[in-house]
Amino acid sequence: MLLPGSTLGVLGGGQLGRMFCMAARNMGYRTVVLDPDSNSPAAEVADRQIIADYTDETALIEMAELCDAITIEFENVPAESLHFLAARKPVHPSAEAVALARHRIQEKDYAKQAGLTPAAYSLVGRPSDFDAAVAVTGFPAILKTTTLGYDGKGQQVVDDLTQLEEAFKELGQVECVLERKMDLAVEISVLLARNSQGEVACYPPAENEHRNSILHQSIVPARVNSDLAEKAKAQAICLAGALQYVGIMAVEFFITTEGQLVFNEMAPRPHNSGHYTMDAAVTTQFEQQVRVMCGLPPGSARLMSPVVMINLLGNLWPVDWAKCLSNPALKLHLYGKSEARQGRKMGHFNLLADNVDVAITAADQIFQKISLLSR
Ligand SMILES: Nc1ncnc2c1ncn2[C@@H]1O[C@H](COP(=O)(O)OP(=O)(O)O)[C@@H](O)[C@H]1O
Ligand SMILES: [Mg+2]
Repeated sequence: MLLPGSTLGVLGGGQLGRMFCMAARNMGYRTVVLDPDSNSPAAEVADRQIIADYTDETALIEMAELCDAITIEFENVPAESLHFLAARKPVHPSAEAVALARHRIQEKDYAKQAGLTPAAYSLVGRPSDFDAAVAVTGFPAILKTTTLGYDGKGQQVVDDLTQLEEAFKELGQVECVLERKMDLAVEISVLLARNSQGEVACYPPAENEHRNSILHQSIVPARVNSDLAEKAKAQAICLAGALQYVGIMAVEFFITTEGQLVFNEMAPRPHNSGHYTMDAAVTTQFEQQVRVMCGLPPGSARLMSPVVMINLLGNLWPVDWAKCLSNPALKLHLYGKSEARQGRKMGHFNLLADNVDVAITAADQIFQKISLLSR
């Protein structure tokens, strides 16, 4: 067990790394961030930063020497770097789990084996795969690059073969997965923390609304029937167990208009839809990340209040902060990014209320009026 006073390292210095460092510091741990950017959000709050590429051996050796355990904040850390570190210090989650989550086909294959149900899918590596893939998925379908996609990037909806050909070209003729486009009633995510003893804390599902393929808001608890909510939690726990997963992870599901629960993808790290835990759950997702990487029991995942989390993207800037903070039930989190670009995640707020409907209305009212651009 690693106790307060130990040093924890994180690969990646974005907002997730920043909030991890803040949680770790609150709990009395020291933190080290590795990121190529000297100006990263996490570097601002870490005890120490190493500015280097993720494959830089000297930097990785320094990281391993400084830290008692190491984690990640994004899944595209090269697997070799994780293996290199894991040979020297505990790394959670494992390189294997991270590699799986990085690859859409391996991830779906694995989830299927563990008893979850992805949308019908098929590999598309070259044009000669089109017909066989379409025979599996039908149209409409979505073509996604097997790796490196995020926030809707690296994917296109296709309605016929011509569109499929075009999309494959536009995505750079890299290995892709074609999957059936489902009719969605709602999207949910299940966040859980699991330690090496197999102890699990699983949060109630969050209901996620995307705008322009970027998460706009998460509503917790999700407005889905309790059978589906329990089923989603059980499936997420089952997937984590099959992987012998150690860390915090989020599993995204679709609920179709026909009421089917469909596995979408997993994230081997804290998740944007879990930011509500910072104010509305007994234990935040970042504290969980600290706890489980240290071999401690996960903290309680009990929800203390209904909550709505809204992402604050660069598009909103400049923002009327006085107006934003005029609501006494609003909790603001900004990531310390100086430049507000379109679509860039700058921060979020959590709005707490006695029931979700009140929270949804109040959060939306604030969101509608805080951008000084809309005047
Ligand atoms: N098979 C599908 N059917 C319907 N909608 C989908 C499907 N796959 C993805 N989407 C939509 O696109 C969004 C982004 O897809 P996702 O696979 O989660 O990629 P990302 O890595 O960008 O989060 C989903 O949240 C969902 O709204
Ligand atoms: Mg997703």
